[in-house]
Amino acid sequence: MLFPVRDNRAVYHERRNTLLKKIKSLHPHLNSGKILLFSNFSREQERFNQDGTFLYFSGVQEPGSLLLIDWNGQTTLYIPNTEGYRNKWIESALEATPEQAEQVGVDSIELLGKKIHGYELAPFFSYDDYESLIATVQNDLSSGCQFFICNPESQKAYFEQRFAVQRLIDFVPALAASVKDISGLVADMRMIKSSFEIDMMYNAIDITATAHDGAISMIADGRMESEVQAAVEYVFTMSGATPAFPTIVGAGQNSTVLHYTSNNKLLADGELVVVDCGARANGYCADITRTYPISGKFSPRQKEIYQIVLDCQEYIAELAQPGMWLVNKDKPEQSLTHLAQQFFARHGLEKYFIHGIGHFLGMDAHDVGDISRPLEEGCVITIEPGLYIPEEQIGIRIEDNYWIVVGGAVCLSEALQKSVSDVERAMKKQ
Ligand code: GLY
Ligand code: MN
Repeated sequence: MLFPVRDNRAVYHERRNTLLKKIKSLHPHLNSGKILLFSNFSREQERFNQDGTFLYFSGVQEPGSLLLIDWNGQTTLYIPNTEGYRNKWIESALEATPEQAEQVGVDSIELLGKKIHGYELAPFFSYDDYESLIATVQNDLSSGCQFFICNPESQKAYFEQRFAVQRLIDFVPALAASVKDISGLVADMRMIKSSFEIDMMYNAIDITATAHDGAISMIADGRMESEVQAAVEYVFTMSGATPAFPTIVGAGQNSTVLHYTSNNKLLADGELVVVDCGARANGYCADITRTYPISGKFSPRQKEIYQIVLDCQEYIAELAQPGMWLVNKDKPEQSLTHLAQQFFARHGLEKYFIHGIGHFLGMDAHDVGDISRPLEEGCVITIEPGLYIPEEQIGIRIEDNYWIVVGGAVCLSEALQKSVSDVERAMKKQ
């Protein structure tokens, strides 16, 4: 379900102040600076997905906009000037009024510049599109202001936002020498989830668990992988969620292909099917994988390999806690990836484990976070061991979502069946 809109203005305000404090403590001699955060840009005929960092500090869904936070925490949201055109084509857009600023929880909303062409702004905006912001930046630079910007993790957003910064520099060349990257600071903040964020993640996980039940109801000899995908995404859509990443439904040989997304093969009795999916709801993502026997019953060999993967996941989940690393080749005894490799080696299967043990999860499915640091209380990670044996057409991955707490890890997705007997029972019921 989608939560009713709740008033998170104080949360965003607090996050902006925390970021500002961190920047100031890193730059004690600086007496003026501004944080400049870009939103993502929308594109006609594509579903818009807001940048995680922009959402984290503002909660604002407006595409093509920008957040400017000054040294005192005063926050201005700049929006494209569509003169109401956006409302006619897409949805109700924010307006640059004090009332809307109050609603959003910023000090003011300003127009970026003159009326843009159409209803959406591209990263290759014109001088006129950005005229007001350009004047502000020029003015700030003349008083020695530094600008702190962020580089998104997502490749598409990264290219767009880098391009937008460069575009701004083309119009204001002096900006080039006054830009500092704060992506690392932002990642450190986003990496540690509050209890409110854990609630949001539970919700995305609940939807994803229901989607797996939908997948089970569709899995049968003669069905298409795409039908299973449709069952998963039906649940997402019904729940007001979207796929956090392309849904993976890989049967038979395709179960051994890690990020298989063609989903266009028939399912056949005797094969396994890997279903790896995640809902994004209220800005937060889940990422859960299960492997199902298409006939409803694992063969003895499939069961043997499945049990080893499951045992590995349980072993790693027991070890996951603050102070351990997702991966650290210099400390293999504290590196969950290395410990999983060693686990599989004890079964002579290490060559079939061909990826890391997991990743951070949050506002992005592969969330920001510094993997060169040990896990900390408040991190959310996936633990997703897998064995991929193409010569036997056996690919098995089991993935759950874990909240790192003092002395351990809580499985947020434990409600979804995964033992051999529970999976077989769930498939029989359908
Ligand atoms: N669930 C896909 C991935 O983690 O890469
Ligand atoms: Mn994953």
